[in-house]
Amino acid sequence: MPDNLTRICNLKDNVGKIVTLGGWVYHCRPGGKVIFLVLRDGSGLCQCVIEKANITEELFDQLKHLSTESSLTVTGTAKKDARSTGGYELAVTDAKILCPSKDYPITPKSHGTDFLLKNRHLHLRSQKTWCIGRIRHTLIDAIRTFFNSNGFTLVDTPILTGIAGEEAGSLFEVDYFGQPAHLTQTGQLHLESATMSFGKVYCFGPTFRAEKSKTRRHLTEFWMVEPEVAFIDLDGLLELSENFVASLVTAVLKNNRAELQTLGADIEALKKITAPFYRLTYTEAVDILTSKKTVDFFATQLEDFKTQKQSLLKKIDSLQGESETANKQWKKDKLAAELIDARAELGEIEIKIENNPKHAELAVNFQWGKDLGGSNETIISMMHDKPVFVTHYPAAAKAFYMKQNLDNADIVNNFDMLAPAGFGEIIGGSMREDDYEKLLNKINAQEYDLENYQWYLDLRRYGSVPHGGFGLGVERTLAWLTGEKHIRQCIAFPRMTDKIMI
Ligand code: 4AD
Repeated sequence: MPDNLTRICNLKDNVGKIVTLGGWVYHCRPGGKVIFLVLRDGSGLCQCVIEKANITEELFDQLKHLSTESSLTVTGTAKKDARSTGGYELAVTDAKILCPSKDYPITPKSHGTDFLLKNRHLHLRSQKTWCIGRIRHTLIDAIRTFFNSNGFTLVDTPILTGIAGEEAGSLFEVDYFGQPAHLTQTGQLHLESATMSFGKVYCFGPTFRAEKSKTRRHLTEFWMVEPEVAFIDLDGLLELSENFVASLVTAVLKNNRAELQTLGADIEALKKITAPFYRLTYTEAVDILTSKKTVDFFATQLEDFKTQKQSLLKKIDSLQGESETANKQWKKDKLAAELIDARAELGEIEIKIENNPKHAELAVNFQWGKDLGGSNETIISMMHDKPVFVTHYPAAAKAFYMKQNLDNADIVNNFDMLAPAGFGEIIGGSMREDDYEKLLNKINAQEYDLENYQWYLDLRRYGSVPHGGFGLGVERTLAWLTGEKHIRQCIAFPRMTDKIMI
């Protein structure tokens, strides 16, 4: 194995030089005298041009029959070629096949979601999953950079815990040496204790919710970053979170333009994501939901869906026509894949058409006091081109630890941040109840085991100060940035309600 492999991302520095690349066959178009082999090495794609005249006949023949995902090394001269995938090309003079990949299960034809999830260990190699993974890497790096460069101390909060931070109904119980315990739903409560030591802290790790809801926004294991700050108020928290999210968008636009383009993300829309974001109180959001604006919004949306349905029907018709006349196998496969995608899209639009009147009714009949559900958040978020804060929710709809508003005891000083264009909530945060008696009453009202919360109450017994923080879900943020419809695509090995695939 050559120890001097060049990575495809570094070809730009090696134009005119003889280099060796190591990777996997992305696709291969064999001809009688020349083979066009696109190699993928994890850092990019490169078209390798293998001319029969430049290598032995035996090797040419072996390469000609190489199937997708076979591994090999190729040696040749690097050339700049704007027309080539990746912008560079390799004029091959030698190659070494490492492991042919016969009957690779994932073909250019589209596959169902279940099949791809079962084959996630292989599907991770696909271009789309790779692009999302690269953006996730940038996002996580930018999250750490933001807090590390703004005076926050990282505190790793426990995964095994004894107290519930969020809804008791979404706890994953574990048997901890005969004692009941559960997987963490939030690091927040422990983080509050660390705030009283460091002033500004954050935790970042896997978070678990036994959510039965099988939606595009829910995973049972997701990653959440949670900052917590002492001596802050709600306005300060909103400002912190909008600067934070704007910094994440900037980092992704700077580092992952090509990946965003490949994924078809809305780059122009992302460029607009600068602070300040929009601010609405919960009461204002309810007024919007129950207004004529929402009725009109749904009517326009329904028309849009119907137009999209018509154009998809036309597209399916023409793809069917084309595939009947196509004579090359690769062309037939490509058309078959497009057809499956178009049919899946049609199915989704039909569901949207069916749901539109139901969601419209839910919205216009919305009663003050309930939590905003996913579909209501979607409406508010679709009406805005930048993230929207919804603040001051009814206390009864929110977690016990949220700070009661001093002017109106029925509401709390909290906020959700909704990503625009229908993506919905990516952040939940609040000021925390710092008054001992009020917090005690809330814990009792929830009928939590008081014994477990004594240490949390201590934070209000000994030097309590105004403090607050928020949690941002990595997968939801990534889904918004990449335009991915389902957050299961935004983590390497997704965990959802039904079963663990691999
Ligand atoms: O609004 P949540 O439940 O807030 C908390 O957990 C607070 N304790 C955070 C804090 O103030 N420190 O969750 C915060 C974010 C949501 O906005 C969402 O992005 C993500 O976590 N999230 C989920 N992501 C994927 N799947 C789920 N089941 C999620 N539940 C929450």
